[in-house]
Amino acid sequence: MRPAGTPRELRGKVAVVTGGAGGIGLAMGRAFAAEGMRVVLADVEETALAKAAAELGALGVPADVTSAESMEALAARVYEAYGAVHLLCNNAGVGPAAAPPLWEQEIGDWSWGLDVNVVGVLHGLRAFVPRMLAGGEDGHIVNTASGNGGVAPIPSAAVYAVTKAAVVTLSECLYGQLDGTPLDVSVLFPGPHMVRTGIFTAERNRPERFARTVPGPPARTADEVAEAMRAHGLEPAFTPAEEVAAQVVAGVREGRFWILPPSERTDSMIDARAASMRGRSAPGYLRR
Ligand SMILES: NC(=O)c1ccc[n+]([C@@H]2O[C@H](COP(=O)([O-])OP(=O)(O)OC[C@H]3O[C@@H](n4cnc5c(N)ncnc54)[C@H](O)[C@@H]3O)[C@@H](O)[C@H]2O)c1
Repeated sequence: MRPAGTPRELRGKVAVVTGGAGGIGLAMGRAFAAEGMRVVLADVEETALAKAAAELGALGVPADVTSAESMEALAARVYEAYGAVHLLCNNAGVGPAAAPPLWEQEIGDWSWGLDVNVVGVLHGLRAFVPRMLAGGEDGHIVNTASGNGGVAPIPSAAVYAVTKAAVVTLSECLYGQLDGTPLDVSVLFPGPHMVRTGIFTAERNRPERFARTVPGPPARTADEVAEAMRAHGLEPAFTPAEEVAAQVVAGVREGRFWILPPSERTDSMIDARAASMRGRSAPGYLRR
């Protein structure tokens, strides 16, 4: 059963992080290692993965979240090494650089986004949850969503928003389905601001099978995105990845479902969306 009010002990427990070779995943790995956890990092970027695993003294396992076989092999490898998993972070994520209107967005963009951001989480659950339940120990699953889609969509980034909205709903369903078991569930909204990571250049990991028929625009780095925002009179803000990782540690300890950092802007969007639904009024909360 979910323990009520008892902070979860992390020391000595086993954590698996997909997309763990860089960005928020690596920051989580660092934070978990600092808590005395045994850390497993999984990623498609093998060079970065080896470097990250060496830095943390973690087990680094090359794995592709879009492949059932690869995720099954990851779970088998982790159970062979440690015999248990207590914290599973389904964190790997991508976003296509091309963000045209929905009726012009290529299906390859959709297939790639859905395969990594949504089916990737499902592969993680299918490979690990049966083993975690069979082990009978307390455990926790953290799925990485985004305020874009999870709170309200940014219409100009529809693929990403739709996939992250799906991660929230999937996590709510998972929470309901795991009620009464020793496994807890959280959904993570990194932020409250953008996090300066490789997500902005996620195109580097797009497999050939999801290639666009017409080349998309070049991916822009976080700093280039910030520059473009300034050009439109907006002041970009970034949340350090370490801060997100600290929010995850606290959220897991406290068994919180919503790992959603305090933000007046986010809260006002949640309220405006709820008010729009209750009032059957137009979605005036949509962001550009
Ligand atoms: N950076 C932000 O501002 C922000 C905001 C909200 C949500 N997020 C989410 O946070 C998560 C982590 O992203 P990040 O910002 O650290 O970006 P990142 O690009 O630095 O990290 C993502 C990692 O996922 C890996 N990856 C990509 N495809 C994969 C696959 N098929 N299988 C396994 N690994 C794969 C990449 O190699 C990379 O190491 C993502 O789910 C992202 O959508 C990021």
